[in-house]
Amino acid sequence: MTKQIGIIGAGVMGANLARNLARHDFEVAIYDRDAHKVKALHGDRVFPTYTIENFLGTLESPRRIWLMVNAGKPVESVLDDLKPYLAAGDVVMDGGNSYFKDTERRMRDLAARETHLISLGVSGGAEGALHGPSLMPSGAREAYDVVSPFLRAIAATTADGEPCVTYLGEGGAGHYVKMVHNGIEYALMQAIAEIYDLLTRCGGLQAEQVATLFAEWNTGVTASFLLEISTKILNTHDGEAALVDLILDTAEQKGTGRWASQNALEVGRVVSMMTSAVEARIMSAHKAARVQAAKILPGPQPTRRKVNELINAARAALCGAMVIAFSQGFDLLHGASDEYHYSYALADVAHIWRAGCIIRANILDEIRVAYRVGLDHLLLSESLRETVAQCQTGWRDAVTRGVLGGVPLPTLSAALAYYDSYRSERLPSNLIQAQRNFFGAHSYQRLDRAGNFHTHWGAELTKKR
Ligand code: 6PG
Repeated sequence: MTKQIGIIGAGVMGANLARNLARHDFEVAIYDRDAHKVKALHGDRVFPTYTIENFLGTLESPRRIWLMVNAGKPVESVLDDLKPYLAAGDVVMDGGNSYFKDTERRMRDLAARETHLISLGVSGGAEGALHGPSLMPSGAREAYDVVSPFLRAIAATTADGEPCVTYLGEGGAGHYVKMVHNGIEYALMQAIAEIYDLLTRCGGLQAEQVATLFAEWNTGVTASFLLEISTKILNTHDGEAALVDLILDTAEQKGTGRWASQNALEVGRVVSMMTSAVEARIMSAHKAARVQAAKILPGPQPTRRKVNELINAARAALCGAMVIAFSQGFDLLHGASDEYHYSYALADVAHIWRAGCIIRANILDEIRVAYRVGLDHLLLSESLRETVAQCQTGWRDAVTRGVLGGVPLPTLSAALAYYDSYRSERLPSNLIQAQRNFFGAHSYQRLDRAGNFHTHWGAELTKKR
């Protein structure tokens, strides 16, 4: 009997997606170069295969092939293995965190063979893959239609029963949206980590006390999966100690956050929270250097004053950070849709992030509604504007306490600087224009007259009394 869909890659993600598909009554073939992994997966409606020929031979036509292998060389090499066998109309989905420009190159390559590549962002980790991921697909519409029943069946569903998957248009938009998702993920993770640092270093709180606060705050604007898991993490003990206190303070990264940040510079949008979060991971990796520097570089000691006020300030800062992390992410998506002619609707992106994915959060309901009405920037939406108005005093207090106490708050302070920049009618770039003109003869524009100007700086133009 032929199988309706095939998965290549029997790691945790591929295996759990296969189980999820099987649970929804689809017949699934699975293949991996590592035969041991495949063998372990034999089960109801999941059929292990041990050669690429056998795998492809068991699939009904047009073949639906879902790749769950690591981004980069592994994807390239699996596609090379598949190419000689692909027939017109076959649809390959790349469900890894591939770089969107690589995906677009591969799409063109497969299109020349009349086969399709779907750019498929998949979020939710192993649990999501098994019980319902958030799915971000793009590519040719006719190819999406071939795979959409499968994606809709296994995707996470929101509380109002809608599946967290929608067609995001042509090209590599799916992987682009997933890259931005991960940029927001980095920003939120780092913001929560900074709040924990502030509360422990300036407030003297223990991990489980921070957990109690996080549990209280997991409502309203700050309610989110990442806050929820942080609560569980901070409440986990190893003997007498909180396990988190025993974990080395260096964090790795696979690259998606960095790509988001680099791409934002190309697209011309500000994602300072993502960039700060990527840099915070880089700084964390320089552990040996920090240990040395800590011995010789002076700075203030955090003082423990008015802890109740600190707690209120920290909550407000988290609230501000949530709004700005999403504002920057959606602004980047907006910029990219102009730059790359992506046709996704921002309200749809907000919708498919409402369940299943790592950045799922209450605020996405508001974001979805705001973009449905039509909006240039999230900070201009009435409800989020109101949220920031209410939290900004405490948020400023939290950042000030960090600065005065020598506790680094790179994303919380970047978020605040972004907010203050965005609401500044006048920025000091007049002086930047003048400096460029001074040393580079780049022309400048004036407020009082149209045209391009050049000045011999230092020579008195008019006398001022
Ligand atoms: C998800 C995650 C997932 C993975 C990230 C982690 O949405 O399920 O984003 O894709 O956890 O790639 O990336 P780093 O290793 O760079 O933190």
